[in-house]
Amino acid sequence: MLLPMLLLAAIPPTISDEAKVPPYTLPDPLVCADGRKVTDAKMWNEVRRPEVFRLVEENMFGRTPDTRKLQAAAVTEMREQGKDALGGKATRTQFKVWPIGKKGPSFDLLLYTPNAAKSPVPVFVGLSFGGNYTTIEDPAVFLPSTWVSKQWALNDGSNRADPKLRGGQSRRWEIEYLIDRGYAVATAYYGDFEADFPEGWKEGFRAAISPAGVNTQWKDGEWAAIGCWAWGMSRMLDVLETVPAVDAQRAIAHGHSRLGKAGLWAGAQDQRFAFVISNDSGCGGAALNKRIFGETVGVISGYYKGRGFPHWFTARFATFSEREEFMPLDSHYLLALVAPRPLYVASAKEDSWADPVGEFLGAVHADPVYHVMGLPGLGTKEYPPLSKSVGTTVGYHVRPGVHDILLEDWKNYADFADRVLAKK
Ligand code: GCU
Repeated sequence: MLLPMLLLAAIPPTISDEAKVPPYTLPDPLVCADGRKVTDAKMWNEVRRPEVFRLVEENMFGRTPDTRKLQAAAVTEMREQGKDALGGKATRTQFKVWPIGKKGPSFDLLLYTPNAAKSPVPVFVGLSFGGNYTTIEDPAVFLPSTWVSKQWALNDGSNRADPKLRGGQSRRWEIEYLIDRGYAVATAYYGDFEADFPEGWKEGFRAAISPAGVNTQWKDGEWAAIGCWAWGMSRMLDVLETVPAVDAQRAIAHGHSRLGKAGLWAGAQDQRFAFVISNDSGCGGAALNKRIFGETVGVISGYYKGRGFPHWFTARFATFSEREEFMPLDSHYLLALVAPRPLYVASAKEDSWADPVGEFLGAVHADPVYHVMGLPGLGTKEYPPLSKSVGTTVGYHVRPGVHDILLEDWKNYADFADRVLAKK
C-alpha cells in the first residue's frame, strides 16, 4: 500500500487559497532581447513583437507550419442552406471544407447570418467540443463523422457522435441571442482538425500537413494539438472571407477553456482576427503560469504520468514543470500579441482550476503593450467586483458561478464588440 501512495505524492497539492501563492516575478514584455525598452508602436511591431511571438511559439505551442502552398488545393463546397433558420431570423449555411485539398482531411463549417442585416455583419468564430450539431437545436445540422469524446459519443465504445445529443451545448452558444444582436456566428468542430488525445494527431491535419513528422508533439519546437486547432480557426476565416453576408474584417476569435487557449493562439498568429476573446482559458491561456494557483504547467503538460494533456503543447512547455521561474515568458506575452487589436478576458468566480485572478493579472501585465501603442487597454490593476465589465481596448469580467460560458459572458462580449468593432 505504501509504495503507490508515495508515487502519488509526487504531484504537489493544488493551491486554491490566495494566501498560499508563492512569490513570483514576471519578465517585462517591453524589454527587447538586446536590453532596449520599447518606446512606441513601431518598435513593438518591428522589434519586440517578433521576439515575443517566437518565445510563445518555442516554449508553448510550437511552430505552425507554413501551409500556403498546400492551401492552393483547398476546396469548399456548400452542402446545405436554410434561409428560414431560427424561426426565420437567420440563414444557416453549412460548408464542407478541404483546406489542403481533397486528399487531406475535411471540416464542416456551420454559419448563421442574421436575415435582418442590411450590410455585411461581424462574425463570431469559434470551435466546439461536441460538434456543430451540439451548438444549436436545429435538425438540419450535420453530425461530425470524426472522433468525439466519450461525453458526446454513442454508448457503444465507438467514439461516434450520438444523434440524441443535438443541441447539447446550445446553452453555451446563444446563437439566437447573437443573431438578435446583429452578429453572424460561425463554428466548426475541433475534432475535425485533430482528435483530442495523445495519438489523435495521426488522423488529423498535423499528420496530413507534416507527413514526415513522427509523434510531433515530442519534437522540441513542433506544433501540437492547440496549434492545430488554432490553424483550423484561420481556415474557417478563409471561408468566411468569401461569404458576402459576413464582414470578415470584423471577425472575432473566441473560445472556452482549452478552446480559449486555441482561440488566443489563433488570434495571436492571424491578425485578420479583429477582436480576440478568452473565456475561462486558464493555464496555457490567459492565466499566469508563474503564479502557482489551480492548474499548473506540470499538471497540464503531462509531466506527472497519467495526468494532463501532453499533446496540447510543444515539448518544451513541460520542461518548466515545477520550475516556472525559468520560463522566459508568461501568459501576458501571449495576450500582448493581440495588441493593438481589442482583447477580452473573462473568468468565472468558482473556476479556481483556471485561476480567475491569474487570468486578470495576465491582462493587467499585457496592458503596458497597449499603452505604449497609445491605447487605453484595460486601464486598471484593481480586481473588479462580480459581474462588472471593465476596460476599454482590453476588457475583463468575472461572473458568478463555475467553469462555463453563459449568457452573461456573451452579453459582455457583444456589448464590447459593438463598441470596438463599430464602423467609423
Ligand atoms: C481541463 C484542463 C484545462 C482545460 C479544461 C477544458 O480541466 O485541465 O486546462 O481548460 O479541461 O478545456 O475544459
